[in-house]
Amino acid sequence: MENKKRAQWGSNFGFIMAAAGSAVGLGNLWKFPYLAGKNGGGVFVFVYLLIVLLIGFTIMLGEMVIGRSTQLSSYNAYQKISKNWSFIGAMGVITGFIVLSFYSVVGGWVLNYLYQYIAGGIPSDTSAYFVSFISNPISPIFWNMVFMAATAYIVFKGIGGGIEKACKFMMPALFVLLIVISIRAITLPGAGAGIAFYLTPDLSKLTTGTIVAALGQVFFSLSLGLGCIITYGSYLGKGENLEKNSIIVPFIDTLVALLAGFAILPAVFAFGFEPGAGPGLMFITLPQVFDKMPLGWVFGILFFILVLFAALTSSISLLEVTVAYMQDQHKWRRTKAVIVLSTLMFLVGIPASLSMGIWSNVTIFGKNIFDSLVFASDILLPLGGLLMCIFIGYVWGIDKAVAEITIGGKLPFRLKGFWTVMIKYVAPIAVIVVFLNALGILKL
Ligand code: TRP
Repeated sequence: MENKKRAQWGSNFGFIMAAAGSAVGLGNLWKFPYLAGKNGGGVFVFVYLLIVLLIGFTIMLGEMVIGRSTQLSSYNAYQKISKNWSFIGAMGVITGFIVLSFYSVVGGWVLNYLYQYIAGGIPSDTSAYFVSFISNPISPIFWNMVFMAATAYIVFKGIGGGIEKACKFMMPALFVLLIVISIRAITLPGAGAGIAFYLTPDLSKLTTGTIVAALGQVFFSLSLGLGCIITYGSYLGKGENLEKNSIIVPFIDTLVALLAGFAILPAVFAFGFEPGAGPGLMFITLPQVFDKMPLGWVFGILFFILVLFAALTSSISLLEVTVAYMQDQHKWRRTKAVIVLSTLMFLVGIPASLSMGIWSNVTIFGKNIFDSLVFASDILLPLGGLLMCIFIGYVWGIDKAVAEITIGGKLPFRLKGFWTVMIKYVAPIAVIVVFLNALGILKL
């Protein structure tokens, strides 16, 4: 059926919930607070906000325009505009595959934590519990399978009846839960130190490491660089205002990331834990905080429901990128694409999961399998974004993009001048500089 007529979002609000759902995820709730904790608190937040405004918005709009204009998912969208550049789309599909393979491993951890809280709680030695859980050869793989199955089910239900419907329910619910938990955290006695750490940018703590981390995080958190927003944009009707949408979606995503910091860091300070705990912040430190809090188990359940919703609305967008490619390019039916791809990604997730335990000695360039997948995406996302900027600025042409954004002059485009300069010069140069710096070629 979908071969005859392309599916569309039921409304622009539905699109916003889906796109914001894609953006808001483990990146916001798990990574953002620990990156902020590790990279000096306020400075990181400050640099992050700057990059969202300059580069996040620019690339978000760029992807939306390509998708809406061609009404095709990533690979076919690039191909339709210029055959020689379809490789950017192909790279995106592969990146989407890689990201979901490790993302759903962590999604499985979240499911397990939710289950444990409902069943009575996490043992009070949360660190030992976390390590023994993720290194177990069976249980995390089981939960990964459940998470992937849930993702596959929603995507199988299609754009309007699956993705849009799920996001229209989960996103508002997530927001309410997050507000409740943040209020609880900032009213804990002793939370003030955490709030100060989080909000005061001490620019003397600014390092190039902070900038590299913040740039990577902006791409990951806003779902940019692999054609996710191209794919979602391809289901948008011609009347919608892309400029507005590409302000609203990063706004929601950033708001949630900031709130996640408020939900987590003040509590960590209030109970005297280390904010720089790294990836364990959500799975080790936070359960200790819940343990010490009145009615902590209730907040534990609420918190992990929140994280689960966020993770699912993101994982479905990643699966959709690869499913839409199979539909558009190889004319597969949705059902077949969903079953085959989700199974393959689950299978790749198995060694990733085992690399936390029995396969921890299997390494690629010194990194275990899980970290190697994360590392590949850390490079591929900014690279995809960089190529997209070059593509729009110099191959497709700003004029054609502007014509699509304004629907041939019918809609206003207030930030046209800003966007043009950003996409042609500032964003690509910034990404290149950060790359060269990370590779050690350019010392800042
Ligand atoms: N943005 C999501 C998060 O913050 C993850 C994600 C979904 C993603 N789709 C993506 C990351 C596309 C990069 C590209 O958790």
